Amino acid sequence: MTRRVYDPNRVLIFDTTLRDGEQSPGATLTSAEKLEIARQLARLGVDIIEAGFPAASPDDLAAVQRIAREVGGEENSPTICGLARAVEGDILKCWEGVKDAKHPRIHTFLGTSDIHLKYQTGLSREQALEVIRKSVTLARSLCDDVEFSPMDAGRTDIEFLIQVCALAVECGATTLNIPDTVGYVAPEEWRETIATLIAETPGAGVGSGVIWSVHCHNDLGLATANTLAGVLAGARQVEVTINGIGERAGNTSLEEVVMALHTRPQFYGLHTGINTPEIMKTSRMVSNYTGMMVQPNKAIVGANAFAHEAGIHQDGVLKHHSTYEIMTPETVGLSQSRLVLGKHSGRHALKVRLSELGYEVDGDALNQVFARFKDLADAKKNVTDADLEALMADEFNKPQEIFSLVDMQVVCGTMGMPTATIKLRNAKNEELVHAAIGVGPVDASYKAIDELVKAPASVLVEYAVHSVTEGIDALGEVTVRIEANGKTFGGYGADGDIVVASAKAYLVAINRMLVAFGYEDMKPEGEAATVNLARN
Ligand code: KIV
Ligand code: ZN
Repeated sequence: MTRRVYDPNRVLIFDTTLRDGEQSPGATLTSAEKLEIARQLARLGVDIIEAGFPAASPDDLAAVQRIAREVGGEENSPTICGLARAVEGDILKCWEGVKDAKHPRIHTFLGTSDIHLKYQTGLSREQALEVIRKSVTLARSLCDDVEFSPMDAGRTDIEFLIQVCALAVECGATTLNIPDTVGYVAPEEWRETIATLIAETPGAGVGSGVIWSVHCHNDLGLATANTLAGVLAGARQVEVTINGIGERAGNTSLEEVVMALHTRPQFYGLHTGINTPEIMKTSRMVSNYTGMMVQPNKAIVGANAFAHEAGIHQDGVLKHHSTYEIMTPETVGLSQSRLVLGKHSGRHALKVRLSELGYEVDGDALNQVFARFKDLADAKKNVTDADLEALMADEFNKPQEIFSLVDMQVVCGTMGMPTATIKLRNAKNEELVHAAIGVGPVDASYKAIDELVKAPASVLVEYAVHSVTEGIDALGEVTVRIEANGKTFGGYGADGDIVVASAKAYLVAINRMLVAFGYEDMKPEGEAATVNLARN
């Protein structure tokens, strides 16, 4: 069943974090993580979730199906969309993935620029039109909500683009998404392209019911500007990702477009259905789960986005926030972390606070998180919401654990021999211990882990550490990315001790790599160590 949007001033938010975003190197998510993120996207209020590419693998199909059933099952749930190349097999798989959602959508695409036709598909323009006819017709025979994207539209001849769009609508497409696949266009040019398409595509003009959409990549740092230019030209759907993650330099970031529309209503005269106070939480979740840190000066969600350093700025903000702030931190969910819990707080208080933060935790999972909370509260006077979120990500955002950290000890001195002793548990439940010397405590720990795991050689390509809150007793978060055989794997860890957080993050990345390279047989027989954690 399809929902129609009649509000001409509403910009639909199509989130593709789980599809285009997941295509970022190293951002691979497990299906449990995808489900968690999809739940949070629903709380954020996105209109459409592009949940994945079902034909890519049985795992991708299963993840899309789960999201369709568990996040897209209600009348007021977001539309759940799957991506499919313009081939029969992909479209059928995509339908299998989304059909159980209350509002399913099939999104199919074909490259239409001369460059893509010549070098990628080898199709003539006539052949491309035939492929589009067949695929959109098939998709529409299955689902009454169909999106078509002429890939590399930014470099496609406008006359041919109009022909392509007209054909897609004639065959039943209800949304026409115009991608700047390679991040090539300039805002003024893009505005003109979208305006021309809307004005000149037969059957798809204003009042036709067809939704025009833009999908921009950030290769020249213009994705947000181009997306807003598309909106000014009449696009009423924007394709975006949380934190702007995605292929190469990424996609348009959801938070930037949403907050531009929100902060400048007189200029744009448009609104979205986004529940903006959920933005920060969503950003943190995506960053923690993908292991992709947000740069500190990133608009809206960067650690410095609301920090005022210069004396004159601080003076102004203290007198009135509007002197140097165009939006309040609270609008995006960045409340001054409320000091909610301390070492005297009990299990029930923790459960209630976690529930307010959107985590429903019971039974063993609650015991597990309560034990971690107590350790933290012993080391740190006040446990904030941000601490709890980091703790939840650390405790539950783990891929299959082939090796888990049992204990570690690090000795550093002035003699230049930092030594780490690491104890791991392997999949056969055996404990393994090794000590190594490194150039620093983190290096020593990683060397000891490498020795114990004996994994394929990998290179540490990124290591970042930051504190969750202020103060010497703050919880430290570490994200790492390792590269092996041309693939990147991310890991996240949080702990009061940053060397321990570093070891945990590294082990998460190593476990992901082992799973990807088929080391699952190192897992014990029987049930895997999963946590029954539901966020709704
Ligand atoms: O960038 C792109 O062209 C895409 C399409 C599949 C829409 O991601
Ligand atoms: Zn894309």
